[in-house]
Amino acid sequence: MEKRLDDFNFNFQPSLDQTVIREIASLKFIHNAENIVFLGPPGVGKTHLAVGLGIEAVKAGFKVHFANASSLVERLEKADKEKRLEEKIRNLSKFHLLIIDEMGYLPFNDSGAHCFFQLISRRYEKAATIFTSNKSFGEWGEIFGDHVIAAAILDRILHHCTTVNIKGDSYRLKERKRHGLAQPSFSG
Ligand SMILES: Nc1ncnc2c1ncn2[C@@H]1O[C@H](COP(=O)(O)OP(=O)(O)OP(=O)(O)O)[C@@H](O)[C@H]1O
Ligand SMILES: [Mg+2]
Repeated sequence: MEKRLDDFNFNFQPSLDQTVIREIASLKFIHNAENIVFLGPPGVGKTHLAVGLGIEAVKAGFKVHFANASSLVERLEKADKEKRLEEKIRNLSKFHLLIIDEMGYLPFNDSGAHCFFQLISRRYEKAATIFTSNKSFGEWGEIFGDHVIAAAILDRILHHCTTVNIKGDSYRLKERKRHGLAQPSFSG
């Protein structure tokens, strides 16, 4: 399944203002080193929109990197242990757009949160980042296990940021219903 912006059915997600997405798709936020945060429950299209914007950015000639939040933090921690965190963050700062998907599904430990803070500080006002999360900003303290560091991270992310709240039904659920499976099946 393609995840281009053109493949996104806005009729299915009426809470989502299409003009806001069109504005973001102008990619001005990348020129301005600003951030985009997609918030919402599972299946509402956060990753789809983030990937779709990433594809547009690549087409426009930007360097883009897509990362799952947990594996990104794992890589940063590994680099930190090997005294290569500085180098790792420098490499990541080469990307005009970094997409960090699934903030909040798995919490970070202390050292992970510190590495993440350093990455965000480095990109702040220098390069654009898109985040997706199922957790509201008030719950981000739980992701970092520390409300002080969460506040410092959020302060930087939100200073120049467009937040898109998606409230609606899961597209996955719709597809299950179409196949006659209204309830999630865990039987494998
Ligand atoms: N409005 C839409 N039009 C077309 N396809 C959609 C739409 N919303 C979601 N999808 C598709 O539904 C699936 C789930 O969407 P997606 O992965 O973007 O959800 P998500 O919000 O990132 O959920 P999660 O929090 O579980 O990661 C994907 O295959 C995606 O392409
Ligand atoms: Mg997702």
